[in-house]
Amino acid sequence: MDTPASLHNKRIGCIGCGNMGGAILGGLAGRPGLHLFGYNRTPKRLEPLLAKGVKPVADIPGLVAASDIVIIGVKPYLVAETLQAALPALRPESVVISIAAGVTLRDLREVVQNRCHVVRVMPNTPALVGSGVFAIEEDPQLPQPVLGMVLDLFSLIGQPIVLPEKKFNPFMALVGCGPAYVFHFMDALAEAGVTMGFTRQEAIDLVTQLFLGSARLAAVPGSHPAILREQVCSPAGVTIAAMNHLDRTAVRGHIIDAVLAAHAKS
Ligand SMILES: NC(=O)c1ccc[n+]([C@@H]2O[C@H](COP(=O)([O-])OP(=O)(O)OC[C@H]3O[C@@H](n4cnc5c(N)ncnc54)[C@H](OP(=O)(O)O)[C@@H]3O)[C@@H](O)[C@H]2O)c1
Repeated sequence: MDTPASLHNKRIGCIGCGNMGGAILGGLAGRPGLHLFGYNRTPKRLEPLLAKGVKPVADIPGLVAASDIVIIGVKPYLVAETLQAALPALRPESVVISIAAGVTLRDLREVVQNRCHVVRVMPNTPALVGSGVFAIEEDPQLPQPVLGMVLDLFSLIGQPIVLPEKKFNPFMALVGCGPAYVFHFMDALAEAGVTMGFTRQEAIDLVTQLFLGSARLAAVPGSHPAILREQVCSPAGVTIAAMNHLDRTAVRGHIIDAVLAAHAKS
């Protein structure tokens, strides 16, 4: 995908380049027409990003001054103090994007004192390979061109979707936390593969292809997971025996409860 016109020569900075901030900057790295900047409390953590062309900045005001779009990638409890430090360098045209779980638009507006645009985004880590899913909170105060630019930005590293505030925490529990559920399931399947005699690497490679292929099948328009599952389960076959075991041991209910537990904590 070409870099959209709304982002040509835009300067994108990230404060807090850990797992998620680093995944977003890393996913954007190498895009023609984008200038990327990073600031992290522990500079060593920036090194893999510098190798991809991200430029280091010495402090928070320096990063804000150098950027049109500022992504706040610190843990939620550090967002307010990070924005306080950013405040003097913010300009009316600056766009601050918070990816922090549980930090509301109201919280963000309060700290930045209406000095710039604020956007709340909930990402997930597949952003690193251009396949993230990003919820952008619906906000009547955000000018359309700014929303368009933010949608364009996240389209470069996955699929953005605009959601109302009430769906934000459910999105986080399902999709923000989701890669952990998927990797947990993949790891368990690989463990079964090793138990049956595959090497660890063979098992991981096979399971990874299994997920990639299954996800592509599920993404075909009109597909439905329940029907796809049914198609694999021949009468009196081996797959239905495995599915019966999963149902007897209530795996489906546990998966639902796990997501609801994440939601309850969000
Ligand atoms: N991880 C996910 O899958 C995920 C999904 C959705 C949303 N999020 C959100 O993403 C945010 C970051 O989470 P994470 O998992 O990426 O955490 P993380 O790996 O700990 O990254 C946070 C980074 O912020 C840096 N930092 C802390 N204070 C700083 C400061 N004052 N100035 C500059 N950098 C500072 C930390 O530096 P040090 O290296 O010194 O610790 C660390 O590298 C959170 O708000 C979280 O809610 C994460």
